[in-house]
Amino acid sequence: MNTRDNKLSKKGSLKGLRPFRLNSSPSPFQGEGDKGGEVLRQPLNQLEGKIGSILDNYQSDKNLLVSILQDIQAEYNYLPREALTQISQDLGVPLSQVYSVATFFKAFSLKPRGRHIINVCLGTACHVRGATRILETIERELSIKPGDTTKDLKYTLETVNCVGACALGPIVIVDGKYSGQMKADKVKPLLENYD
Ligand code: FES
Repeated sequence: MNTRDNKLSKKGSLKGLRPFRLNSSPSPFQGEGDKGGEVLRQPLNQLEGKIGSILDNYQSDKNLLVSILQDIQAEYNYLPREALTQISQDLGVPLSQVYSVATFFKAFSLKPRGRHIINVCLGTACHVRGATRILETIERELSIKPGDTTKDLKYTLETVNCVGACALGPIVIVDGKYSGQMKADKVKPLLENYD
């Protein structure tokens, strides 16, 4: 890893990237079958072309692996298995090393994510003001649990512990936009804002 990657590892946080416990499974895709390919919703050659152009942007510099993964995540909202395989081959980096980096940062996802990311704050201040009820309402509306993505890949639901705006709690964050003083009856109108 170059200086930049070392910096990332040591700080463990840059541009929203947070360290993530290494997956103990030999392959994070184990048990996923061809699920990743199914949800790509584009031909494999298109993916190869897109990944190829991202690699070109970085002149296939393996020292810039984290940046390459960030660009792929920005493009697909997650890191498709096929993309990681292609990166490994093109950069000449062992697949295990690519997985190791991809699983280190919480901001990287190996599972398909929705177009819209919903975060419900469950920190103490939000909790005492009814965050759990808000979360349950969202779960009911979308028929998913935290960590899951709706079948139409529209929403991914996540929880977070305090985002530093306790006075506004309970807080729901959609695509980085904060909605404070949430109430259960505000959930549906909020979700209707998103295509
Ligand atoms: S507990 Fe929710 S913002 Fe602090």
